[in-house]
Amino acid sequence: MSRFSSQFLLPFLLISFFFLTIISATDGDVDDDQTIKTMHQFSGYPSSEPHHHPLSSLSVDTQSLQFQVDELATFSDSPSPSVTRVLYTDKDVAARRYIKNLMGLAGLSVREDTIGNIFGRWNGYEPELAAVGTGSHIDAIPYSGKYDGVVGVLGAIEAINVLKKAGFKPKRSLEVIMFTSEEPTRFGISCLGSRLIAGSETLEKALKNTFDSQNVSFLDAAKSAGYARDKDDLSSVRMNYGTYSGFVELHIEQGPILEAEGIPIGVVTAIAAPASIKVDFEGDGGHAGAALMPNRNDAGLAAAELALAVEKHVLESGTIDTVGTVGILDLHPRAVNSIPSKAHVEIDTRDINETRRNIVVEKIHQSAIDIANKRRVKLSGFEIVNQDPPALADKKIIEAMEASSRELNLDYKLMVSRAYHDSLFMARVSPMGMIFIPCYKGYSHKPEEYSAPEDLTNGVKVLALTLAKLSLS
Ligand code: GLV
Ligand code: MN
Ligand code: MN
Repeated sequence: MSRFSSQFLLPFLLISFFFLTIISATDGDVDDDQTIKTMHQFSGYPSSEPHHHPLSSLSVDTQSLQFQVDELATFSDSPSPSVTRVLYTDKDVAARRYIKNLMGLAGLSVREDTIGNIFGRWNGYEPELAAVGTGSHIDAIPYSGKYDGVVGVLGAIEAINVLKKAGFKPKRSLEVIMFTSEEPTRFGISCLGSRLIAGSETLEKALKNTFDSQNVSFLDAAKSAGYARDKDDLSSVRMNYGTYSGFVELHIEQGPILEAEGIPIGVVTAIAAPASIKVDFEGDGGHAGAALMPNRNDAGLAAAELALAVEKHVLESGTIDTVGTVGILDLHPRAVNSIPSKAHVEIDTRDINETRRNIVVEKIHQSAIDIANKRRVKLSGFEIVNQDPPALADKKIIEAMEASSRELNLDYKLMVSRAYHDSLFMARVSPMGMIFIPCYKGYSHKPEEYSAPEDLTNGVKVLALTLAKLSLS
């Protein structure tokens, strides 16, 4: 169907639908709950008539969604158009307030856990059933953009607004989640909120002794943001499998495929396996003029050599699916005329194949040992911060996302997420799925990140319809 004709046909279908609803409601048996019946029809679950679907007319308030994306971007510690919003900083706290306010305006009941995962719930008419979750993060790495994560939080709240406006009544409750610190910026741990939800006693313990680069402890930072108030026990964040019957995250693709192929929706089938490593070298340092080259053991050069070794090992895997990045390289004492006596390196490596990714991690470890020996520096630290397995999306959720896209006449593509997301960990407590929308040239983690309003709208529609289906299933 052409876009032109769908513009006219869909409102017509919506009007016909409401007309029919009124007729069936007045005709019906008074003992029947017509609202519930109607809502089953309404979400079309399961649907056999993809193009005659009343929810295809879901009306997204694109203007206000775009306004919110732009406004949230002003809560930033770096100048526009870049966004820097780091966990538990004043800007993060202000942005959290903004989100809680929007959740309240959407009629959701809001609660927060002890580390600041924020939940906004719309109670279903069978509230004892496991809820359907949706959400993402709003923290932003230094000098990044305004769409990463944000689309999945603001878009989820808008999806709720859309369903409410359309008169939908959820059977299972719908819950919007804003996860704490998907980005590892401050404490080096990615997907902090969702990792703790999925349950990690090791991480709960480690966080009691975790400090940022300014030596502020995790718990002090959390307390300064109003969290972890009464007790330092983080176990209350954990959830059991089955707390949610399904979890769906809307996100920008962060890659170029959808835009290049002109496809509005990506249905994610799997999330690649990420790992991150911290390495420290120590040498004797010394005077940049007086210490002769044969007598040096330069920790900075060991770090530089390790960075090149990371690239080599990644390329040796022989597939474009293996990637590796040295995003942090700090030298001490950081003076132009002083030989670095300490070097700190942080490495990120990922693959859609876990075994291949693990081989790269092992090779990096061996290189760090060899380089330290060769350069007579001390390998004072080699810490694998995380080495996570990949996650598969759930078949039923994939089907719901596909059916929603079809019913909305939106072309879609099944694809793998090379970036990680909170969904990687939500998959441990719930069947999981992700919806991608295109972004300009695949740019992400930089200020040029951009998704067109039309793509945001499409994403919210697919999310809303998917939530409606999962709520009734
Ligand atoms: C998420 O921010 C990632 O680095 O994949
Ligand atoms: Mn990110
Ligand atoms: Mn993200």
